[in-house]
Amino acid sequence: MIKDLHEIKIYSTPIELADRAAERFIQAAGKAVAEHGRFCVCLSGGSTPRAMYTRLAEDPWRGRVPWPAVHVFWGDERCVPRDHPDNLYAMAWELLLSRVPIPAENIHRMPGEAENPETAAAAYEDLLREFFGLKIGRYPRFDLILLGLGADGHIASLFPGTAGLKETQRLVTANYVPVLNARRLTLTLPVLNNAAQIMFLVAGASKPQVVRSFWGRSGEDQYLPAGLINPQSGHVLWLIDQAAASLLEPSDYGSADDKA
Ligand code: 6PG
Repeated sequence: MIKDLHEIKIYSTPIELADRAAERFIQAAGKAVAEHGRFCVCLSGGSTPRAMYTRLAEDPWRGRVPWPAVHVFWGDERCVPRDHPDNLYAMAWELLLSRVPIPAENIHRMPGEAENPETAAAAYEDLLREFFGLKIGRYPRFDLILLGLGADGHIASLFPGTAGLKETQRLVTANYVPVLNARRLTLTLPVLNNAAQIMFLVAGASKPQVVRSFWGRSGEDQYLPAGLINPQSGHVLWLIDQAAASLLEPSDYGSADDKA
């Protein structure tokens, strides 16, 4: 990780983190719509963004998002039926998308329920190529990609040591994850690293070690998938709660604990 390109903010509670994340989402949406008329955002799964999704579905946040111009995509998806409790689309639909005036055609979900995950990954890649009008060899530029951080350093469904991390041609892959004995659909690193902005949401008592491996002085991060996030021309923002940051020293991150 090239720390100069990454910014860190630490918040005392997960609720404060969710509020600030919702605020950043609204800012990114306003900027993107002002600049090019639409806001293309990739949602993440995991438990951490749940509070932010809930916030965005409530007033006053809800009324500040230009929903008709928002296009929602996913960074990864579990290979389960659409109504399965592990389905990431279902989570975002329940907490956020069913509660806001986003046009149905602006919701671009990964088809995790497909019988063949490879075919599903190829279909989502085709969808991205068509939506962004991409030529071969080009990657989509999302305005914002939300990412969580696994305690093992995984991002989206790119887990340590998995083949998906080496993918350089495909936009989407059906990554086999040995620790889960399952395939998961996931965007690939070149797509993540082509985003205008990446926002990590990291909270909870299972995260201090992995957070320290990025923001502490040990330099272990190069062994972890999240250490491979280095957009060429994008901004990376880490929003972390105090529980997850508990092993950091203030000198690890400078004066990061502001309310911005
Ligand atoms: C998923 C995710 C995954 C998640 C991390 C962090 O499949 O759920 O996309 O990458 O973001 O595992 O999850 P938590 O927010 O629950 O810690």
